[in-house]
Amino acid sequence: KNYEMIETSVKGQVGLIELNRPKVLNALNRQMVSEVLSAMEAYDENADIKVIILAGKGRAFAAGADIDEMMDADAVSMETLNQFTDWDRLAWIKKPVIGAVHGFALGGAFELALCCDMLFAAENAEFGFPEVNLGVMPGAGGTQRLTKLVGKTKAMEWILSGKRISAKDALHHGIINSTFAEEVLMEETLKFADTIANQAPIAVRLIKESILKAVDYPLYEGMQYERKNFYMLFATEDQKEGMRAFKEKRKPDFKGK
Ligand code: HXC
Repeated sequence: KNYEMIETSVKGQVGLIELNRPKVLNALNRQMVSEVLSAMEAYDENADIKVIILAGKGRAFAAGADIDEMMDADAVSMETLNQFTDWDRLAWIKKPVIGAVHGFALGGAFELALCCDMLFAAENAEFGFPEVNLGVMPGAGGTQRLTKLVGKTKAMEWILSGKRISAKDALHHGIINSTFAEEVLMEETLKFADTIANQAPIAVRLIKESILKAVDYPLYEGMQYERKNFYMLFATEDQKEGMRAFKEKRKPDFKGK
């Protein structure tokens, strides 16, 4: 498929999506968000792809929603368009999505990063919600996702001040998984994606689903969900293969069945 605002490529079993408007630091306009969603959904349906990586081209992951597109909007047109409901589709992607962030990940781009299942970042990565400086606020999940992740104290400080969060602080507060030198960020992210790509696909899918329930559901409902998924895995050939391979002291050969 031909995309204008993103670039897609396949690396083995990993589907890569790169935001591609480097002249404006990958400012997210509606078309770009819609292309990201289409590309993710296409990878999700493609049985050859096991993991998705989201990254940005040029000197940043992305500097936020496209301010040019929003500046003259009014409340009625924003509410009528209700563009951010589209973002809910990101939460329905079944395969693991890893964000590889370098440079700025601000505003809507930080929200996009927070939709990823894991985040690997370059040492130069800077996160933040500068919306308050523009007289607005996060609108695609920022106040909710960041607060659930780091708690009220830091979320209040960061979103009310608009100040940037360094990769080091993001790591300290559990926003990102690891940091790497910028030159090796993609290589390291791909390496990690590959290890997941070689795991039993159905187990991977049900694990992701169950962990997201821990975030979204109360404990009791999440536990029920986890238990059902656990039992269900005993209907797969990969469970037999995985346990047999352990006993036979060999590597399992998972088939996704
Ligand atoms: C449109 C943008 C942009 C944006 C950068 N550019 N961010 N255009 N929307 N969000 C453009 C600049 O206008 C400039 O174009 C070019 O990209 C390079 O940016 P510079 O500012 O020259 O680079 P630099 O000096 O390095 O500063 C980088 C920066 C700064 C600190 C990231 O660009 C910045 O503060 N950008 C805005 C960040 C922001 O407020 N984001 C939140 C948006 S609101 P020209 O033509 O001059 O070269 C938001 C709401 C989310 O995200 C709601 C839910 C989705």
